[in-house]
Amino acid sequence: MNFRDELAERAKVVNKALDQCLPSVNAYPPAIHQAVRYSVFAGGKRLRPILVLAGAEAVGGNTETVMPAACAVELLHTYSLVHDDLPAMDNDDLRRGQPTCHRAFGEAMAILAGDALLTSSFNVLAQLPQSAGVAPERVVRVISELAQAAGTQGLIGGQVVDLASEGDTVDEDMLEYIHTRKTGALIRVSVRAGAILSGASEAQLQKLTDYANSLGLAFQIVDDILDVVGDEQIIGKPVGSDQRNQKATYPALFGLDAARQKATEAAETALSSLNSFGSEAQFLRGLVQFVINRNQ
Ligand code: IPE
Ligand code: IPE
Ligand code: MG
Ligand code: MG
Ligand code: MG
Repeated sequence: MNFRDELAERAKVVNKALDQCLPSVNAYPPAIHQAVRYSVFAGGKRLRPILVLAGAEAVGGNTETVMPAACAVELLHTYSLVHDDLPAMDNDDLRRGQPTCHRAFGEAMAILAGDALLTSSFNVLAQLPQSAGVAPERVVRVISELAQAAGTQGLIGGQVVDLASEGDTVDEDMLEYIHTRKTGALIRVSVRAGAILSGASEAQLQKLTDYANSLGLAFQIVDDILDVVGDEQIIGKPVGSDQRNQKATYPALFGLDAARQKATEAAETALSSLNSFGSEAQFLRGLVQFVINRNQ
């Protein structure tokens, strides 16, 4: 199987597991379950859950065992998108190729759908010892790391500074602060979660963390680039949103060519972090190429 097919296959398996994690649309009260399912299944590349699986694989773990953690990070990621799109934040109308959650269901339901996704993410994780027989100490560590990655010194911190910087010219350090938190933190904990649940050594974890830090930075730089040159039909979200909101982005600070160069450098650093791994990290290597060459 080539890499693209493999990626699609993994996304399919993740989607099936996500479907099993969530209450049916008919569960009472249906309005919230419709909004939650709509947001999760509108589309999405499933990069973060796939990173959980690949992180497990890289240390000889079992992908099926860590699947609930893969679902948990995707639920949390989807919450962050639903809230990111709200009028009080980026005020966007299109997400994953469909009207944003607040456009389809109203603002109150979008706020609640985000809340529901965030809380259910931790519930899915907390069930891991029972559902997959994973040692509770490992699960508790992942719960704590996920909470920190999502918190005020991770994703939320990044979003706060992203919003506060609208209209300002920030320097590269500040831009890196924003990117490594609003996006990098969740990407990092995804790889780490798969590895921790699979019993990785601290040395392995450090290498995987270095990989994920660079991958996350490359990923968000490419996200910024696609906001300028992407095709709305393919990226499934509005092009030009960052410019409209006067966001601090790599293309805005450095221009497109230098932004591309920085993404390529981060991708190379990600690849070299995997030097001590063999074929078990092949999928993680493939993901670097995917992140850098993506048009969606
Ligand atoms: C979009 O993430 C938000 C960022 C953190 C850049 P993705 O590009 O992974 O969005 P989906 O999950 O594929 O929709
Ligand atoms: C969003 O960054 C990061 C989070 C949702 C935490 P962006 O605002 O750049 O993401 P998109 O471009 O709307 O997907
Ligand atoms: Mg945003
Ligand atoms: Mg946004
Ligand atoms: Mg963006």
